[in-house]
Amino acid sequence: MKPIIIEPFKLDADLKLTQEHKDFFKQNGFLSLANITHTEDLDKVRVSYDRIFAEQAGRNEGNQFDLGGTDEDDAPPNLPQILHPDKYAPEMRQSALYANVQTIIQQFLGPEATTDFHHAILKPAGHGIATPWHQDAAYWDPNLLHKSVSIWTPLQEATLENGCMHFVPYTQNIEIVEHRHINNDPKIHALELTEAAMPHVKNVVACPLSPGGATIHNGYTLHYTPPNRSATPRRALILGGSIPATQLDKQRTFSWQENEQTARLARAAAANKNT
Ligand code: NI
Repeated sequence: MKPIIIEPFKLDADLKLTQEHKDFFKQNGFLSLANITHTEDLDKVRVSYDRIFAEQAGRNEGNQFDLGGTDEDDAPPNLPQILHPDKYAPEMRQSALYANVQTIIQQFLGPEATTDFHHAILKPAGHGIATPWHQDAAYWDPNLLHKSVSIWTPLQEATLENGCMHFVPYTQNIEIVEHRHINNDPKIHALELTEAAMPHVKNVVACPLSPGGATIHNGYTLHYTPPNRSATPRRALILGGSIPATQLDKQRTFSWQENEQTARLARAAAANKNT
């Protein structure tokens, strides 16, 4: 299925979202922006990013792990991820990127919005696998209605070849569809849609970006990034903001959350025991 390519909107220097931007987000469930920071700022963030991945920062606490594999210590990861990267590289918080993301998030969610959940996903050159189609809220508490936006920021150009963001428009308000762990293997952290849920993937749009651009989606919008087929790493930083979630009337569970058995969980539990 060939995606439709979407050109990003350009923001003015004051980073104020226009009515056109807001309408596009409301209708489509995502937004692509050409310029949320400048390349010099991005270069600095990239140095910190590369350092923490080289150090496998947070591994013993379960904050660094392979999103797309079984995450054994001696296997090269398919999709290395670090949760809370700014915990290991606090200088990132001084960047224009972090300040600008806060400004943008508050325009979506109001002044009380906090930027609370950040993570970094690296697709190594030549072998970083696809991040399968998913809804972020499939990972989260099933009993809450989440009010969040995620700003997906590549730290270099993002292309069809190296793994730019893809979305299914109009899915921002749908129920959580059926997910499972990749290959139905509960030892793999990342989720994918089951075959039964795949018909939701249609009218796909892709959002290539130049350095300094970013995409925005909410916790329900279906999204995906292809494998990295390029000769250089594809780095992405995902900065999330939210306002308090509300309780759903009906309690429910997600089967894919019940059976998770990842090495990351074991490391996190061991780290907790030792503190
Ligand atoms: Ni996601």
